[in-house]
Amino acid sequence: MKPSFSIITIFVLALQIGCQSGSNNQTKHANETMKANITKTAWGALPDGTTVDLFTLTNKNGLEAKISNYGGIVVSLFTPDMNGKMEDIVLGFDSLDEYVKDTPYFGSIVGRYGNRIAKGRFELKGKTYNLAKNDGENHLHGGLKGFDKVVWEAVPDTSSGEASLNLTYVSPDGEEGYPGNLEVRVVYTLTNQDELKITYFATTDKQTPVNLTHHGYFNLTGGAKRDILAHELSINASGFLPVDSGLIPTGELRALNGTPFNFKTPKPIGNDINFDDIQLKLGLGYDHTWVLSNHKPIGEVGLAATLLDPESGRYMEVWTTEPGIQFYSGNFLHGKYKGKGGVVYQDRWGLCLETQHFPDSPNRLIFPSTILVPGDHYSSTTIYKFSVKRKL
Ligand code: BGC
Repeated sequence: MKPSFSIITIFVLALQIGCQSGSNNQTKHANETMKANITKTAWGALPDGTTVDLFTLTNKNGLEAKISNYGGIVVSLFTPDMNGKMEDIVLGFDSLDEYVKDTPYFGSIVGRYGNRIAKGRFELKGKTYNLAKNDGENHLHGGLKGFDKVVWEAVPDTSSGEASLNLTYVSPDGEEGYPGNLEVRVVYTLTNQDELKITYFATTDKQTPVNLTHHGYFNLTGGAKRDILAHELSINASGFLPVDSGLIPTGELRALNGTPFNFKTPKPIGNDINFDDIQLKLGLGYDHTWVLSNHKPIGEVGLAATLLDPESGRYMEVWTTEPGIQFYSGNFLHGKYKGKGGVVYQDRWGLCLETQHFPDSPNRLIFPSTILVPGDHYSSTTIYKFSVKRKL
């Protein structure tokens, strides 16, 4: 194995976003008079005629996120590089039709259950529930028509001085096999501290599993110029969950030291990804849950992961209330998707950092519970925070 972390021979200096100047017309400037804003445009229609909108959120520093009420998809996210150049740091498509046709969950809200439930089955109060099986014999990301494929009710809000999009959806009892009417609210806020903050809320009228997450594929190069193997990742974890051939956790919590899964200090993703390790072979790379060790009080966010593209200087922190994070290194892209601007997304062209409870928790009583009961309130927060680091 290569050294467990890269020897960083450059010094980095955190820069304030927005104090850069530039001549490129993609460059946006922080401006004292600039205010958070949100606008709405028609984006198209689904095959059944339902119309879909696209909301453009901007913050006072000129960061911009375009979010659709179809699947709550973050279609684009513009953040500055070390020279202040604004570029898009998420994978996706140019048109609604392409998302509807076939997407590997680009930028979407995932639910009711982010990640897999073994054999699409679980028992609750003595009753067996059978879910849609959409990943071999297993259930993945909410089933055949999960929250990534529904149209959410959208209400923009700038009353707090920040741009927020409130999305609500009522998932009917029995949808994709899940019990209970589940009322879900997801709020995206592009904060003036250069964060994409996502808060999730849910209530139910019958006991049911809930595990909501966001499935953004990040590529901090801007405009997906290259793969993500040189991105330096750290994960604040105590261990990871080994999986079986269906990518279902075996129940073991494995220590990180001495394994290619050790990202306790920042390491280029490509360093160990091809290491001869059965877990990497099963996932075709990284596709596992890390058990976070950020020991935060319940309901408060802790630092889960950091990501740096040394070339552009773009730096992202992930903060969450969740106990786990699925790091998926984009192993199944296979050049199958022609994305924004005609860029073909090859394997490892984007990576997901999906904050969540552990996969298959409804069948693993040793894992933290994902069961929401009537009268209780599900809530979860994740923050993707953007800044830059400059080589000296
Ligand atoms: C999973 C991968 C899956 C991908 C779907 C990720 O969250 O961990 O196994 O292939 O979603 O695009």
